[in-house]
Amino acid sequence: MNRREAVLRELNLYPLWQRRNQPAQVATDAVASRLGGGEADTQRSAMGIAALNPSYISSSISGSGEIANLDWPQLKDTVRDCAACRLRAGCTQTVFGVGDENADWLFVGEGPGADEDALGEPFVGQAGKLLDNMLMAIKLKRGRNVYIANVVKCRPQDNRNPAPDEIAQCLPYLQRQIELIQPGLIVALGKVASNALLGKDATLASLRGKLHDYHGIPVIVTYHPAYLLRSPAEKAKAWQDLRLAVQTMDDRG
Ligand code: URA
Repeated sequence: MNRREAVLRELNLYPLWQRRNQPAQVATDAVASRLGGGEADTQRSAMGIAALNPSYISSSISGSGEIANLDWPQLKDTVRDCAACRLRAGCTQTVFGVGDENADWLFVGEGPGADEDALGEPFVGQAGKLLDNMLMAIKLKRGRNVYIANVVKCRPQDNRNPAPDEIAQCLPYLQRQIELIQPGLIVALGKVASNALLGKDATLASLRGKLHDYHGIPVIVTYHPAYLLRSPAEKAKAWQDLRLAVQTMDDRG
């Protein structure tokens, strides 16, 4: 079994059964048929860009304040030194983000956990291993045309969700990261990241399977890898979301 097959097995998608009378398909198409005969394609054609009114976002995305004018080194320094909310007192260090600063793909999580707090890099624990496998399943790799960031840069203690005021305080940093990266597509991992980016208060189920928009950048919503570790049966749906993301990126050219 090669590495890709091993990853698909990890995602509960292997072996890839194909009907005998069908022509050979690439692995992703076989997976799609297993998931229900091109459901993702149907969803794609049926959806429009969701209308948005993000409450956190001002006209220059990261606001008219000084964060909006920071370059990468200034932004990194500012995040490192930030103590604007209560989260900083409870964490070891800020976790800025990692990867290709000119990436087409941006993956956004919620906030650092214990492993990320210790190492200073997003998604380095068990959820991070699954995220790396999800990336590999769509032929991506951490750091290669991929950037990974979180909504909040400090670990919420006891792995609680960040509070709305903590999100509001930290979001301009992510918004500035997005302005600097100018990704072709954003994949929002979980409800917190999705709602923060889209300025909504919606269920993940209502956000999945649609193409959203963040200041002209398409956004795909999927499950948080930590949730998938707890609910492996949902991995097939996450695979659908990743296929939609790949198709959306392909359509952009
Ligand atoms: N969960 C997140 O949302 N982000 C991380 O960096 C790690 C776990």
